[in-house]
Amino acid sequence: MKSQLLIAAAGLGERMGEGRPKALMPLAGVPILARTLERFRGAGLVEGAVIVVPSHHRVEFADTLAAIFPDMTFRLEEGGRHRQLSVANGLAALDTDTEIVVIHDAARPYVTAACIDASIETAAACGAATVAVPATDTILAADEEGFVVDTPDRSALWACQTPQTFRVAVIREAHARAREDGFMATDDATLVRRYDGKVRIVLGTPLNFKITTPADLALAECVYKRKLA
Ligand code: CTP
Ligand code: MG
Repeated sequence: MKSQLLIAAAGLGERMGEGRPKALMPLAGVPILARTLERFRGAGLVEGAVIVVPSHHRVEFADTLAAIFPDMTFRLEEGGRHRQLSVANGLAALDTDTEIVVIHDAARPYVTAACIDASIETAAACGAATVAVPATDTILAADEEGFVVDTPDRSALWACQTPQTFRVAVIREAHARAREDGFMATDDATLVRRYDGKVRIVLGTPLNFKITTPADLALAECVYKRKLA
């Protein structure tokens, strides 16, 4: 089955607070996006990847990718205001013969080859897969005034990561139905699940964290320096 990579890189990195897209910020001297893409080289998914980028930064992304991956071609698509809209644009741009799409956050540079392979195998077998790790913190549900209303049983909770990998028809249908309903989520597996699709969890790793804040970037620099991932 032909697999294609879709990288969500169209966020503006507001929580990073640098005033520029997070994916272009350096991690140990190399843009985060490039470090993330490098992780997919072993699976043969760099060539032809669909990369969704912020509309005002298209040229900067194109120049950065051309300098770091001179032999590779990419399909750059413009993102939307929310991640879900960005991914929808990327899904519309897949090659017509792609059967499996591997959707990954640009901001997770330490995904492992084993996770990528397992997510593709699982999606091929079950239709939909998400990488996730068992919750280590106890998670509290709170009301709008900040009072705890519930403590869900941690043993059934997982922290969601990417890649989220799907048969193309499965994820396209879920996105279309969510668009009709006006339903938005911060990940794609939730859309499949909402319309009664089955999503199988693939065990991730703690170092596949998302770089969201300056503290995350500092941790990611430490991981690089100490060769932990
Ligand atoms: N993303 C996207 N399109 C959006 C929003 C997010 O493609 N409209 C991507 C980001 O580039 C990132 C991933 O989705 O790789 C996860 O999003 P997040 O960590 O929230 O990144 P940002 O939206 O850039 O950060 P912030 O929410 O702090 O602005
Ligand atoms: Mg965001």
